[in-house]
Amino acid sequence: MEERKPILSAKDIEITFSMRGRYLKAIRKCSLDLYEGETLAIVGESGSGKSVFTKSFIGMLDNNGSITGGSIMFEGVDIAKYTKESDWLKIRGKKIAMVFQDPMTSLNPLKTIGEQIREVIELHQGIKGEESKKMAIEMLEKVGITDPANRYKQYPHEFSGGMRQRVVIAIAAACFPKILICDEPTTALDVTIQAQILDLIRNLQKEMGMTVIYITHDLGVVANVADRVAVMYAGELVEVGTAEDIFYDARHPYTWALLSSLPQLGEKGQPLPTIEGTPPNLYNDIVGDAFAPRNKHALRIDFIENPPYFEVSPTHKAKTWLLDPRAPKCEAPKVIQQLRSKMKGR
Ligand SMILES: Nc1ncnc2c1ncn2[C@@H]1O[C@H](COP(=O)(O)OP(=O)(O)O)[C@@H](O)[C@H]1O
Ligand SMILES: [Mg+2]
Repeated sequence: MEERKPILSAKDIEITFSMRGRYLKAIRKCSLDLYEGETLAIVGESGSGKSVFTKSFIGMLDNNGSITGGSIMFEGVDIAKYTKESDWLKIRGKKIAMVFQDPMTSLNPLKTIGEQIREVIELHQGIKGEESKKMAIEMLEKVGITDPANRYKQYPHEFSGGMRQRVVIAIAAACFPKILICDEPTTALDVTIQAQILDLIRNLQKEMGMTVIYITHDLGVVANVADRVAVMYAGELVEVGTAEDIFYDARHPYTWALLSSLPQLGEKGQPLPTIEGTPPNLYNDIVGDAFAPRNKHALRIDFIENPPYFEVSPTHKAKTWLLDPRAPKCEAPKVIQQLRSKMKGR
């Protein structure tokens, strides 16, 4: 593979929240390189740190949280060191934009859809008057809103959930960001709309050359969209690889567990397997591998020492003692070995 330079490089990021004198370490040394033009999916159960990790790229952590270690290099600057809102305003929305699960949180109910897109265009691109209005209408058309000139004059409540999410994406894309972070953008929408929004994001990305981070708790959603997948558990990235690596050659037992609950693997009439147990309490210090108590394949050392990353291939790494040369041989569950044939024809 050719050497590629990352567009954003997070290294050993630690994020801590303070709650009434107690500290919760939400992100525990996460390193991630993001490459230009790719779609990277971040997957993991609710509470694993997907939102917190990526919000730190645009300075949107809640007030009681801060980056307590590591660096985030973007355009030659360590943005993890930013403390002033004026610094973040040069990046947030403009170079790195984020779309959230609930489109209503991003829209102003009192302003027309058109005005809201137009404002962003005027603010970020310095275009005014009829010109910005024209661009806003074009943007609505680009995100698949029919009759955009009339829809321009309507208010958010006159749009359906799926259409509102399209508008939010239009607002994000109107600044031509280099990186678009989509944080569970379809979780609140029904399945058909979900597929349409995914298509939309994919098309916009191709057309505009954006780099996309797609966050979801549902691994099934990303099979057809992601170039690479990062799996998150209890504030750590436990496995990172190409979509091929993660779907067909997963090495971490947590990734196995996620894959086992894919609807594609379900037998008719049988409930899908769920992952037993609960993630650790992040207020406590975690000893060993955070997944060990829920891991059927855990080794003794898992309860003693946190594993390092093992490189499976130049594109693929996983943080599990099972990959240590001294570990007993442990194969992926049978059902996962059948994944390739089961995913065919989708
Ligand atoms: N403002 C906050 N104060 C305290 N804890 C927080 C705050 N925001 C998030 N957390 C905690 O950080 C962890 C990661 O949260 P989050 O990134 O939202 O998870 P995900 O997006 O993967 O569902 C969770 O344990 C959550 O409770
Ligand atoms: Mg989240």
